[in-house]
Amino acid sequence: MRGRFITLEGIDGAGKSTHAAWLAEAIAARGHRLVATREPGGTPFGEKLRDILLHVPMAHETEALLMFAARREHVVQVIEPALDRGDWVLCDRFTDATYAYQGGGHGVPTAQIAALEAIVHPGLQPDLTLLFDVPLAVSRERLLRSQAGGRSLDKFESEEQAFFARVRTAYLARAHEFARRFRVIDASRPVADVRAELAELVAGW
Ligand code: TMP
Repeated sequence: MRGRFITLEGIDGAGKSTHAAWLAEAIAARGHRLVATREPGGTPFGEKLRDILLHVPMAHETEALLMFAARREHVVQVIEPALDRGDWVLCDRFTDATYAYQGGGHGVPTAQIAALEAIVHPGLQPDLTLLFDVPLAVSRERLLRSQAGGRSLDKFESEEQAFFARVRTAYLARAHEFARRFRVIDASRPVADVRAELAELVAGW
């Protein structure tokens, strides 16, 4: 039986990564073989592109093209083989992030992103997308706290608030458009509360 493809999304500072690690363990504890992976990245080639994407300034279209180049390798080398084996795949960001960041954030036309999507993963969509949603003030505070802790912010994390507002709006619009695939999680709550919601979800798997 084919595995289940679950993706995690949200603006920077939503706390997504904190929950991703816990979720991976919880899914494995339910007895599912799980591949936990991320974008941009997920393959040696994709991780090289990640380094460039997160640190080198480039045209918005170049950014979209490189996101999808990394994604094609990821789909071919990792995601499809895992799902075919019956493994579950938990992917920290996928194509919804391109619609939200390059589309919503940077203004790359939706039709162009859709055209790339059709080349890169025709017929493949996540079975479930968890959107970790927080108001901008919360994400900003979390990013500033991590910066104060000594971590330097990457190219996206250094964007202005208006950018994140557009990204968040684009994410919520997609959640509305694809309501059956998305589950919006209020990630402004304490970690324990979010975890309780995730635990309830995983208990049904
Ligand atoms: P991460 O910090 O969640 O690993 O994501 C890295 C950054 O890459 C994050 O700021 C969002 C951005 N990104 C895009 O802009 N477009 C995409 O398609 C993906 C997958 C990520």
